Amino acid sequence: MVVYKHCDRFTAPKNGELFLSKRVRTAVFPVAGLGTRFLPATKAMPKEMLTVVDRPLIQYAVDEAREAGIEHFVFVTGRNKGVIEDHFDRQFELEATLELRGKTTALEELRKDLPSAGRTSFTRQQEPLGLGHAVWCARDIVGDNPFALLLPDMLFKGQPGVLKQMMDAYEETGGNVIAVAEMPEEEVSAYGIVARGEGPDTGFIITQMVEKPKREDAPSNLIISGRYILQPEVFNLLADQPRGAGGEIQITDAMQTMMHQQPFTGVKYQGQGFDCGSKIGFLTANVVYALDRPDIRDGFLKELRKLDLGGRL
Ligand code: UTP
Repeated sequence: MVVYKHCDRFTAPKNGELFLSKRVRTAVFPVAGLGTRFLPATKAMPKEMLTVVDRPLIQYAVDEAREAGIEHFVFVTGRNKGVIEDHFDRQFELEATLELRGKTTALEELRKDLPSAGRTSFTRQQEPLGLGHAVWCARDIVGDNPFALLLPDMLFKGQPGVLKQMMDAYEETGGNVIAVAEMPEEEVSAYGIVARGEGPDTGFIITQMVEKPKREDAPSNLIISGRYILQPEVFNLLADQPRGAGGEIQITDAMQTMMHQQPFTGVKYQGQGFDCGSKIGFLTANVVYALDRPDIRDGFLKELRKLDLGGRL
């Protein structure tokens, strides 16, 4: 038997072979996309900095990763995305002014949101060739380690967060883990779909994966939802991955190949998901998050009631 040093555990055999799964310490955030569905807002500003109430989407994703125990945060950026790097840095002038004005709560909030020094890395995807290519751009930083992949435009309200729910499944199964959600059958052809094998909602075997199937060919109505735990072997597959749907290098295509070599577990997460890359998902998220905020709820409801929605609905 091969003995691996410095590994945390062995788990789930696939095809009779022992499969090694280390602890997940790193998360990758691809933020190099063009955000064309949100133009002109995203012409000069990154989509990932759009705010739901008063926090940028990227901050929610980082918070979710931190809650799940992630220690290192890797951002795959591109042109016009420098503000994301600034967001995760100190702002001494602002902090001094807040201090001077006695705005200690705001100051504490700002400091709390920051990952510690040395815990962030930024790499560049020079051309937006697709999500799979963006992930591949993080290969040298991630190295030979499993990693979490979070698409920041997917926002999840869950208790605990969706990545934490996936980490709990990973503790049991190792391998690769994907968050999935049910979707009405008439909408499945817009998404990556998984087929469900044995196991509970908190961790079932994925037996098949298809990208954007025709409704009649879809093996289920469970869509791949923007949160993944992946083993580093995916980088080798991405290196040779030809362009797929939309002419882009797709992560789902690489995962389909990897399914023949490694176990994949699905987690049907508890909570509500919002596709904030779409205008409708983004607006809905703002309403839901505002109504769930104790400091905003009453004032917001009052204004909503004053609106003459009758004529518009
Ligand atoms: P999306 O497909 O939702 O983002 O990718 P997009 O391409 O920016 O958006 P539209 O469709 O044109 O409106 C999900 C995530 O992957 C990143 C995006 O920044 C987003 O956070 N991404 C996508 C990259 O980093 N690089 C790419 O080449 C594509």
